[in-house]
Amino acid sequence: MATRRFCVLYSTTMQAVMPLCLSSWFVSLCFASCLAIAIEFSKQPPHPLPLSHHHHRTPPPPPHLYTPLALLQAMCHGCKCLIGPSMLASDLSCMAAEAQKVVAGGADYLHLDVMDGHFVPNITWGPPVIKHLRKHCPGVFFDCHMMVSNPEQWVEEIKDAGGDQYTFHLESTKDPAALIKQIRATGMKVGVALRPGTPVEDVLPWVDLVDMVLIMTVEPGFGGQKFIENMMPKVAFLREKYPEKDIQVDGGLGPATIEAAAKAGANMIVAGSSVFNAPVPAQVIATLRRSVERLGNGKKEEELTPLPPA
Ligand code: DX5
Ligand code: ZN
Repeated sequence: MATRRFCVLYSTTMQAVMPLCLSSWFVSLCFASCLAIAIEFSKQPPHPLPLSHHHHRTPPPPPHLYTPLALLQAMCHGCKCLIGPSMLASDLSCMAAEAQKVVAGGADYLHLDVMDGHFVPNITWGPPVIKHLRKHCPGVFFDCHMMVSNPEQWVEEIKDAGGDQYTFHLESTKDPAALIKQIRATGMKVGVALRPGTPVEDVLPWVDLVDMVLIMTVEPGFGGQKFIENMMPKVAFLREKYPEKDIQVDGGLGPATIEAAAKAGANMIVAGSSVFNAPVPAQVIATLRRSVERLGNGKKEEELTPLPPA
């Protein structure tokens, strides 16, 4: 009798306790997995580029940007995909013809890298060259990426030369608000660029005042460098906060790297070497565009821009 009573008591207790054990076991398992994922995401990846004394250090983005949300999010947005070949990679002995070739091949705008040999260790061109190019490309949007130490100095000249957008580096000015005002006064659009080592949070006070944020995916100064993929959390962070803002990426973009940028939410894609070194630039331009349409705008295969003949 006592044994039977024990058995009944035992089985009743087990019936009550087992689901609790199982559910707490399940909860612990979930907790442990989340913890493991969080630890994994907060590990900082190694720096991908050798650093020279000329170049600013490129620390990885702060650990909090590596949240599963920011990383796993394939943000769909409504921002139009715009592809801008970087003229730096063209044959500069016939710049006008090169520009016309990529415009005919589907480019939405031309990216013009102005370098002063001071902000970056390289020199390209300034307003006089842009002014001549303008005569050969009427109606084409000129996106001027100003890698210069004194961006306030060139605003009116770039406007007069035919610039449509003036993108200054946040690191190059003490007074971004005044510079933005100065650019606006000319009627040009305003872009603000961040070197790879500049934390994305630094741009937050200015985002509402500008038309576009450029997240550099190489150290500014040279074409043909390797795409720094760990800049993508910066893009995803901005895209999550600003679903309607133009976000540009510049450096190392091509068919091999576009998916990462498109998934993170970039909609303005600068591409130099990948476009100008291709046998058919129009193919590369369309490939980049299709990636942004598919992974950024969430379009279906049949809605994508068709690929031109090879
Ligand atoms: C680098 C420039 C880029 C460069 C991109 O300082 O801002 O615009 O020309 O060239 P690729 O696409 O070759 O990296
Ligand atoms: Zn550029």
